[in-house]
Amino acid sequence: MGPLNLVPLEPLLRAEHVTLEYAGERGVVRATDDVSFDVHRGDRFVLLGPSGCGKSTLLKAIGGFIKPQAGSLSLAGKPITGPGPDRIVVFQEFDQLPPWKTVKQNVMFPMLANGVKRGEAEGRARHWLGKVGLARFADAYPHTLSGGMKARVAIARALAMQPAVLLMDEPFAALDALTRRTMQEELQTLWDEIGFTMLFVTHSIEEALVVGNRILLLSPHPGRVRAELNSHQFSLSSAGSQEFQAATQRIHGLLFGGAQASAAHEGPAPQPFAVH
Ligand SMILES: Nc1ncnc2c1ncn2[C@@H]1O[C@H](COP(=O)(O)OP(=O)(O)OP(=O)(O)O)[C@@H](O)[C@H]1O
Ligand SMILES: [Mg+2]
Repeated sequence: MGPLNLVPLEPLLRAEHVTLEYAGERGVVRATDDVSFDVHRGDRFVLLGPSGCGKSTLLKAIGGFIKPQAGSLSLAGKPITGPGPDRIVVFQEFDQLPPWKTVKQNVMFPMLANGVKRGEAEGRARHWLGKVGLARFADAYPHTLSGGMKARVAIARALAMQPAVLLMDEPFAALDALTRRTMQEELQTLWDEIGFTMLFVTHSIEEALVVGNRILLLSPHPGRVRAELNSHQFSLSSAGSQEFQAATQRIHGLLFGGAQASAAHEGPAPQPFAVH
């Protein structure tokens, strides 16, 4: 292919003016309002915003479990109309692994449910368990694993499905700080090796900078787009650097308004912020 053979850079996942609502007993709750963003192939795209700003709701809509009241969602140019094996979600909860299945059976299950032949599913399960360092635990049951190991099983199970986009809803939020860092590192290593497309939800500014190459900042309830930032220059090894601290403060300011942003510059060295 020569340089004149231009392929239009169509985004893999496109959210256009997406408004999401829940109809409750006490009326309608608007979770997101007019949210637009594009995720390109190979992106580590982060949705960052305070609790209740509609991050999980957006993932549910992209997963095809709920429909937008207004706006549209599309994957590879096709409207999202329901769930599909091209979009797999990894959740925070550790009990997402059925306890009566072994690790390998857990990884195989979604493949078998989607028509992958048993031999193929088993091969892929072994491959991905190897990738996340759990080859030796293929026949273990989930209750015998640590939180970090369960998170690894959930990631192996998701990647074994070869989704077009991996949706991650605060997958490391329930882990202790050290395990969380390890998992962020391992996720980065996997991504370096495989280059999958990921949409990652967090309310930790530091995690967003470490995990993402692009960050969409959402305002508090209902979630609206505050800003979109590039963050590919940051990684775990740059966490704590002056640039990293400056980016953290800038994001904090964008999320919570100018007054706090300038105050942060004058105050003592900030701790890693979490948006609550
Ligand atoms: N099933 C539901 N029925 C009614 N309202 C809901 C439902 N799920 C979420 N909401 C409301 O929608 C809004 C967005 O919720 P959502 O769970 O998407 O937020 P979030 O950004 O993921 O928050 P967190 O960081 O705490 O996980 C909240 O006001 C919430 O109360
Ligand atoms: Mg959530």
